[in-house]
Amino acid sequence: MYTIVSIPGDGIGPEVVAGALDVLNAISKKHGFEIQVEEHPFGGASYDLHGSMLTDETLEACRNCDAVLLGAVGGPKWENLPHAEKPEAALLKIRRELGLFANLRPAKVYDALLDASTLKPDVVKGTDFVVFRELTGGIYFGQPRGYDENRGWNTMVYERHEVERIARIAFEAAQKRGNVKVTSIDKANVLEVSQFWRNIVHEVHKDFPEIELADMYVDNAAMQIVRNPKQFDVIVTSNLFGDILSDISGMITGSLGMLPSASIGTKHALYEPIHGSAPDIAGQNKANPIATIASVAMMFENSFCMPDVATEIYDAIEQALATGVRTADIAKPGEKSISTTGMTAAIVACLQ
Ligand code: IPM
Ligand code: MG
Repeated sequence: MYTIVSIPGDGIGPEVVAGALDVLNAISKKHGFEIQVEEHPFGGASYDLHGSMLTDETLEACRNCDAVLLGAVGGPKWENLPHAEKPEAALLKIRRELGLFANLRPAKVYDALLDASTLKPDVVKGTDFVVFRELTGGIYFGQPRGYDENRGWNTMVYERHEVERIARIAFEAAQKRGNVKVTSIDKANVLEVSQFWRNIVHEVHKDFPEIELADMYVDNAAMQIVRNPKQFDVIVTSNLFGDILSDISGMITGSLGMLPSASIGTKHALYEPIHGSAPDIAGQNKANPIATIASVAMMFENSFCMPDVATEIYDAIEQALATGVRTADIAKPGEKSISTTGMTAAIVACLQ
């Protein structure tokens, strides 16, 4: 039996999480798995109820389950809060408290959606890589930080063990994918912290001699991802660079509404769509649930060690898309679009 804590959060979060839970229930029923889902408040929804974006109760529940499923947090209502009270701060806190040091963001192009990308179909067809973003260190957490009237400052620091563990997990993933290439992305031509990053990645690489390792500067990487995304298999990079590059990678596939993510540590794991809370379409049954549904697939793969079940979910998404159903974000101009619940039902039907 698995216990899952769902923290739907704000905006479209509750709608896309509801879709993902429908898929989770359908697949569990099909295979006879026992799954218990417990919902907890998070983000602005929690702030309005309890005056805190992340209460101790929610954090404790996340610590005591097998996997967390997160929707999205934030919205205009909470935008002007002080820095430390913002929804973003709660997201960083949950990552840090649960020790989720590795953020996996796959960029995989579905053939049915080739023409949804703003890039030419022959550039994006066959793209299938994954970004391993370091998630609990770097400039997001470095001290000192702050600003006054005349200065603003942040600090980018990496400790040896932080680089070692993300590098190792990326090389291991490359092994699993059939000894594919790992590209480590940094700014070692300018930043000492990046030269350090590069040195450590090369040290860890000695344990994986069968895997090719390439270094790339982050500015060049941004250009290469758009120029020829197929050259990448596994990317490993720091927190800030990974934040930026994973959004670029996301657009290769046509819509951020398609992309799942997994944040994993040694004890805990959290799954969430890459997209935000999209307050402009919240509550309208318009959001694309696929990123969250695919996040459930990543949960089966990473937390429950059931890659075959994950494949079943990915296949159902692919089949549903092949029938032509499209939510608004992936529909062509003038094409009829389907609702969040409509897309969910289409995917559930393909699971049977
Ligand atoms: C992401 C988001 C977050 C980040 C924000 C919301 C704090 O952009 O998950 O990529 O920067 O990590
Ligand atoms: Mg981001």
